[in-house]
Amino acid sequence: MENEVQKKRILSGIQPSGDLTLGSYLGAIKNWAALSNDYDCYYMMADMHTITVRQVPAELRRHTMTQLAAYIACGLNPEKNVLFIQSHVPAHAQLGWVLDCYTMFGELTRMTQFKDKSAKNADNINAGLFTYPSLMAADILLYQADLVPVGGDQKQHVEICRDIATRFNGIYGDVFKLPDPYIPKVGARVMSLTSPESKMSKSDKDQNGCVYMLEKPEDILRKFKKAVTDSDACVRYDLAAKPGVSNLMQIYSVTTGESFEEIEREFAGRGYGDFKAAVGESVVEMLRPIQEETNRILTDKAYLQSVYRAGAEQAAKVAYKTLNKVYKKIGFVER
Ligand code: TYM
Repeated sequence: MENEVQKKRILSGIQPSGDLTLGSYLGAIKNWAALSNDYDCYYMMADMHTITVRQVPAELRRHTMTQLAAYIACGLNPEKNVLFIQSHVPAHAQLGWVLDCYTMFGELTRMTQFKDKSAKNADNINAGLFTYPSLMAADILLYQADLVPVGGDQKQHVEICRDIATRFNGIYGDVFKLPDPYIPKVGARVMSLTSPESKMSKSDKDQNGCVYMLEKPEDILRKFKKAVTDSDACVRYDLAAKPGVSNLMQIYSVTTGESFEEIEREFAGRGYGDFKAAVGESVVEMLRPIQEETNRILTDKAYLQSVYRAGAEQAAKVAYKTLNKVYKKIGFVER
């Protein structure tokens, strides 16, 4: 029990704004499962973040439940990891508001995700989209997380979280632990299969560029067969000159465990057709057991409900401890 208490803590989350992608699996979830034995882990469905962009209510609910089932299917045992839905722990909204008042307008204007999303949703640049990073900081700081395992695109958000925490601690003493991002060496930035200069994303207009975790094997194979490469006809890692091939090599490296040199040797003198088919097959094989298990778990609604209810209860215990401390520090009268 003593050991349990001393374990370092992890918090991370994914927005259930669509189906989980290969990017979110390789950039984040795969690492979560690997870390879950050594850390005290809190993983959430970040539903509050999704409404910064309009959602179809029934779809949001469906995606949230599917995401929870997928977390478990990816190896996150609910007995060992706290799995919860963000909106079930109101402390996130409460600390989010407090941190809004300790986050600077100028800082928020520099956020890449804000710039990207406001360009994509020009008719709905709402205040929530702008203050998204302070809610995300609240997610992390409520749990006094040591480590935040995310893909490369979220690094800037973990950095602003540290800045906000440092500012707050500077005024009130050591209230928040400063978290570190944990970003995988390979797989931190899975690129679109059709435009490898941009990130693989569920919001991408060209759906052929994005592979989903629960997608049918034949569709996955088709997308990999169509993946953009180059006219060089040589499987070689060179991110700048060969972004398409390098992206496929990264994916293949994570799915098979082979190094780039080994992959180059394996496909020396062979065409891209063979290579793309092999990458597709390796992804299908990696995802097959996860897909089967997700679909099995999804049929048991009562089990899923028991998991997220217990998760919210456990999460709230930790979250409210931090929130109460914050309220006291800033001068709110205790109820
Ligand atoms: P989200 O929902 O966009 O993505 C979830 C996770 O998947 C990673 N990811 C990728 N990694 C590699 N290549 C890709 N193409 C790719 N696409 C997505 C993301 O880096 C992320 O780790 N703001 C967060 C959600 C969030 C959160 C948090 C994360 C809310 N609160 C607190 C950590 C801690 C987001 O939008 O991720």
